[in-house]
Amino acid sequence: MTLLLGIDLSTTGAKALLIDPEGRVISSATTPLNLSTPFPLWSEQEPHEWWEATANSIRQALADANVSGDSVAAIGLTGQMHGLVVLDQERHVLRPAILWNDQRCGAECDEIRARVSLERLVQITGNDALTGFTAPKILWLETHEPDVYRRIRHVLLPKDYIRYKLTGALAMDKADGSGTMLFDLRKRSWSSEILDALHIDADWLPPTFEGHEITSHVSAEAAEQTGLRTGTPVVAGGGDQSAQAIGVGVVRPGTMAVTLGTSGVVFAATESPLIEPQGRLHAFCHAVAGRWHLMGVMLSAAGSLQWYHDKLARDKSFAELVGEAAQVPAGSEGLIFLPYLSGERTPHPDPLARGAWIGLTARHDQPHLTRSVLEGVAFGLKDIFCLMKEAGLGAIDQVRLSGGGAKSSLWRQILADVLGAELVTVNTTEGAAYGAALLAGVAAGMWSNVDAACAQTISVSDRIAPDAQSVATYQVVYQHYRNLYPMLRPTFHALASIN
Ligand code: XUL
Repeated sequence: MTLLLGIDLSTTGAKALLIDPEGRVISSATTPLNLSTPFPLWSEQEPHEWWEATANSIRQALADANVSGDSVAAIGLTGQMHGLVVLDQERHVLRPAILWNDQRCGAECDEIRARVSLERLVQITGNDALTGFTAPKILWLETHEPDVYRRIRHVLLPKDYIRYKLTGALAMDKADGSGTMLFDLRKRSWSSEILDALHIDADWLPPTFEGHEITSHVSAEAAEQTGLRTGTPVVAGGGDQSAQAIGVGVVRPGTMAVTLGTSGVVFAATESPLIEPQGRLHAFCHAVAGRWHLMGVMLSAAGSLQWYHDKLARDKSFAELVGEAAQVPAGSEGLIFLPYLSGERTPHPDPLARGAWIGLTARHDQPHLTRSVLEGVAFGLKDIFCLMKEAGLGAIDQVRLSGGGAKSSLWRQILADVLGAELVTVNTTEGAAYGAALLAGVAAGMWSNVDAACAQTISVSDRIAPDAQSVATYQVVYQHYRNLYPMLRPTFHALASIN
């Protein structure tokens, strides 16, 4: 029993990753998942499809590694956060899961603020009510699907449904629990005050555990379906953002992770809960026991470049586009791109925010457009960086960059120049699944704690130093970028009513 299995249930696929005690990747398999949008603003998935995809990936990862389930010492779970899974008395799924990127429950967010008050909500949970979070989704069911609501007996998050299928146990980790809006951030447990205010039965919620704690063991039925050994321990794990942070070694105060994925994330580990008083940043429990983190999420980061390529530059590869953009000077000769293509979350929690190019002239060509997209995303991440400083985040000694967008050397350099900070990349590239596997390794006794696990498996592979001249240019352009959203907000909102 020498391998560790990390399972990541993301929105696009279920991944199973096997690593050895030196942290080397042995195999990795991902089964794609469908997303359903039956109405505008809705985003749903079928939990049974999650389980089938996960079981498939586990079998595949074992087969690719040419090992049996007996080789797996422990399993860690991670996945998309905030999604709502509701089960009835017999533990049957009552309806499709409502996901983190579903935007239907704006009215319920207002209702939560009215019942609890924004001030108290932020004091207790560390966060403002956002459509992405779990609590407003439960209130939405009460109003719009009362038959479903009446039959609810259990509430789970997506990866915890996988835990239920894998082990039969209902349990959750504290990092993901704190993303529900029903959690007392300081106490690291459910908040009776919030539950009472929202009339949510505390018995619906499972017990919560620290990330490395064993919640339950693989059942005989799940062993049959996956090829795993009956009785293999499963640890609590963590929501995808905290597991991703562990996967790149961002576990102690002073370290920060910037992830350039479809969405863009700035994540800072903290020793105690640090809250932005207006709830403009997310404050959650870390999946490292007894630690917390501050986080900001921009919705379209690498997603902006993907959109730009797919809609406006399909005939070129990403490498060609970015290669041309490297010839354009910093600042794109006065062209600024606003990346709010799917609305925004941090620092402007506004589903009606819109994308824009500002400053176009006849001189601008495709390479300028491309570069401005890369720069606009970097400015959006800097917005989060600045908000964290304003919220009182202490000195940061290292910023670790990861995600698909970080593969571009130009984008890495632009980000270092916009942030005015040295960035580093690390040897691990398997993200949240890797972090979940490390948490499993702590439970299996391979490392004494998460800090030791990261120190022994994760190392810096590259350093990107900021270029003084570009830093100076971007300081000026960033001020213009920063002024644009407040000026354009009324227009964005007016435009949203035009179909
Ligand atoms: C985090 C968040 C996303 C989802 C999907 O707050 O909403 O990262 O977890 O990956």
